[in-house]
Amino acid sequence: MELKIPNHIAIIMDGNGRWAKSKGLPRTLGHREGAKTLRKILTHASQRGVKFLTVYAFSTENWKREKTEVDALMFLFKSYIKNERKNLMKNKVKFIVSGRVEGVSEGLLKEIKDLEKVTENNEGIVLNIAFNYGGRAEIVDAINKIIKEDKEEITEESFSKYLYNDIPDPELVIRTSGEFRVSNFLLWQIAYSEFYITNLYWPDFNEEALDEAIDSYNKRERRFGGIK
Ligand code: IPE
Ligand code: IPE
Ligand code: MG
Repeated sequence: MELKIPNHIAIIMDGNGRWAKSKGLPRTLGHREGAKTLRKILTHASQRGVKFLTVYAFSTENWKREKTEVDALMFLFKSYIKNERKNLMKNKVKFIVSGRVEGVSEGLLKEIKDLEKVTENNEGIVLNIAFNYGGRAEIVDAINKIIKEDKEEITEESFSKYLYNDIPDPELVIRTSGEFRVSNFLLWQIAYSEFYITNLYWPDFNEEALDEAIDSYNKRERRFGGIK
């Protein structure tokens, strides 16, 4: 049987803090290491033929953390945008961000917009960064857009168009660091996604681990409520 490659993989990149703690390092170094993992995994996913990669980088609840950690995460995302630009262009990656605008600094929003613009015609993998993202916030924001347009009726298909980005639902959701929860990630889009949870902390996740997740996905029988 030929291996099925998920069109869209979504990853909850969890465990940076615990990775750092286990090595006696500050949490922020875990986040820095996590950014390196993302670079590796993006390349590998693209080589494996994945068309969309969504990664959860900062949730609407992560503002609850200490200011120093939040600031470090903001700074890290800004640096990522700056440092990865060349690499993304070279690999024809289309960069998009899903999340709330409120709370994010003008400077960072501008950097995001610029990179979205320069990569918009790239025809390789789509890298969707969920940043200041919450699944409930996304649904509420969509409903508010619909109300503003005075729409009277909505279908599942038309509703999807009001989400932050109109991309296909993920076939596979991966969560690292062994937690069995969704933490407000893609609530609408994961209705029939397959889940894969690994104990590896995100900085330790690697190409082989992604291949294992894809192998596991290939063993699943997806029924979508029907009978096989
Ligand atoms: C994931 O790692 C990255 C973010 C949530 C920003 P964590 O920072 O949640 O790491 P743990 O879960 O505390 O180990
Ligand atoms: C989810 O991880 C958010 C990101 C990976 C960005 P958290 O670490 O914030 O989730 P909880 O608090 O363990 O549920
Ligand atoms: Mg965590």
